[in-house]
Amino acid sequence: MRGRRSRCCVALLLGLWSLPPLALAQEMPATVLQERQQRSQPVWGPRGMVAAGEPLAAAAGAAVLREGGNAVDAAVASSFALAVTLPGSTGLGGGGFLLQWLPGPSPARLQGRAAACAEAAGRERRVGEGQALGLDFREAAAARSRPDQFQAPSGAVDRQRVTRSLQSAAVPGLVAGLLLAQRCYGRLPLRRVLAPAIRLAAEGVPVSRQLSQSLQAAATLLRADPTSRSLFFHADGPALQPGETLRQPALAATLTRIAAQGEAGFYRGATAAALLRLMAAADGLITADDLRSYRARPVTPLEIRFRGHSVLGLPPPAGGVTVLQLLRLLEPLDLAASGLNSAASLHLLVEAMNLVFQQRNARLGDPGGAPFEAQSFLGERALAALRRRIDRQRHRPAAELLKHSQVREGSDTTHLSVIDREGGMVALTSSINFAYGNGISVPAAGFLLNNHMDDFSSRPGSANAFGLVQGAANAIAPGRRPLSSMAPTLVFRPDGSPWIATGSPGGSRIGTTVVQVLLNRLLYGLNLASAVAEARLHSQLLPDRVDLEQGFSLDTQRLLEERGHTLRPSAAMGAANSVEQLRAAEGGGSFGVTDPRRSWALAQPE
Ligand code: DON
Repeated sequence: MRGRRSRCCVALLLGLWSLPPLALAQEMPATVLQERQQRSQPVWGPRGMVAAGEPLAAAAGAAVLREGGNAVDAAVASSFALAVTLPGSTGLGGGGFLLQWLPGPSPARLQGRAAACAEAAGRERRVGEGQALGLDFREAAAARSRPDQFQAPSGAVDRQRVTRSLQSAAVPGLVAGLLLAQRCYGRLPLRRVLAPAIRLAAEGVPVSRQLSQSLQAAATLLRADPTSRSLFFHADGPALQPGETLRQPALAATLTRIAAQGEAGFYRGATAAALLRLMAAADGLITADDLRSYRARPVTPLEIRFRGHSVLGLPPPAGGVTVLQLLRLLEPLDLAASGLNSAASLHLLVEAMNLVFQQRNARLGDPGGAPFEAQSFLGERALAALRRRIDRQRHRPAAELLKHSQVREGSDTTHLSVIDREGGMVALTSSINFAYGNGISVPAAGFLLNNHMDDFSSRPGSANAFGLVQGAANAIAPGRRPLSSMAPTLVFRPDGSPWIATGSPGGSRIGTTVVQVLLNRLLYGLNLASAVAEARLHSQLLPDRVDLEQGFSLDTQRLLEERGHTLRPSAAMGAANSVEQLRAAEGGGSFGVTDPRRSWALAQPE
């Protein structure tokens, strides 16, 4: 019996062996894909979904959805809550970008809203049966800032001053952005949307292991500032410990003023006065005028087609061009035929990454409210010219495309994605730049300041903290916003229906993270959870090397080295908290995925 069975297996194997290669090629991917699709599973919910970088903030958004709020209400509630529960990643002293799509026509939605909403409506882009809009609430350079502000007499950039001084902070934008979104597109009263953040700040949140560890890691920075020290550390030295409570009464009072007065609760009055006192006590540049004149900018999203899907991203100073250009460059190269994580497809991916970084660093900067000329980045002629520079067999060294540096990624910045029961979607990335920003908290107002001045090119040719060597297009100028990599992204099915909202933290790795998640989902057919979990790599031209997460086979790595790539193992990249809407035929409802790379995130169904 045993003999017969083994003969039968041998026959079966021989049978498979003798099949023509085509048949095998048809068989294998399905099997491989099927297995891969089951490696990780998204959370499912029957209606809306919030995927955010911290559980209490995700729950705050989901509660707002349950009360009849839409995706904008939920995203704003979650983002304000994250400003309380993830103080190292985001906060009222920071800024960011929001990309939304809401079903239906805009005029009905905007009836009876503030005048600023008419401007926003004028920037919307019609996609499918709804309207998409971006909000740029990136921090802005103070009116007194200068292009050479961070250069020492030797001409070298003073890295301490550009990252850790009061001057490293640009005028905060988060509050203006969230309030504009909510006022024009939300459904619930502002007070309701801010209530969870106020409660979390006033009553306190339990300190998680991760929060305690991140405070300890930033101890030198935070303990040097008396306000940060008193907020996050015990009087005798150690950081708040897991299980203890982080109470932020001053932040609760600031949030309460915002709930009562709107923008004036932050950009004027007691909050502004606290910030201005801090600026005046040292060499800070931000003035009352800077605060009063700060506005969030509504922007028309950029749109490309990728394999029949519509993909939306945001123009500079956001990082959408990197994502969209990379997808368009790759589309005709047929990565799917070479297979997920094969040396052939990874080689093309890396070469295309280098090209988009060369474009970004040399040519992109804040267009200052002027329309962005997308054609020379996303037009087919420009793309074809770039594509011709890709050699399928050999890595083109950075020196051939250019002329150095290190890359770092902190645990800062956070991305959240929301879907509501009507299909409305929001992707929102916010940041104070490094973990705990510049480390300086505003006394009596209870929030940390960003250090986003370092995202400008303080001196053309010298690298910022993310190793980005940028040019004059991103020089410091009064009122200007530093170029960002943040890239909230929305994807629509070929029939125009809303499908995926995604984005990530990760500094310069944001765009390449988002693109790999999308390639895994759209091209290789992984489910959303597996698409997010799959190993990632990153290359940004300078330094001329490929950073690899764990999970790429040694054989593949050897093949990449043979093509001329220098490889370096890397810590985890990004944290792409994403949501996906299912069709009725798929059972309906929505999927939520939080990135396993940052274990404190949560996908919370409505
Ligand atoms: O705006 C940017 O591109 C960066 N300041 C974002 C910082 C970041 O994502 C750090 N991440 N982990």
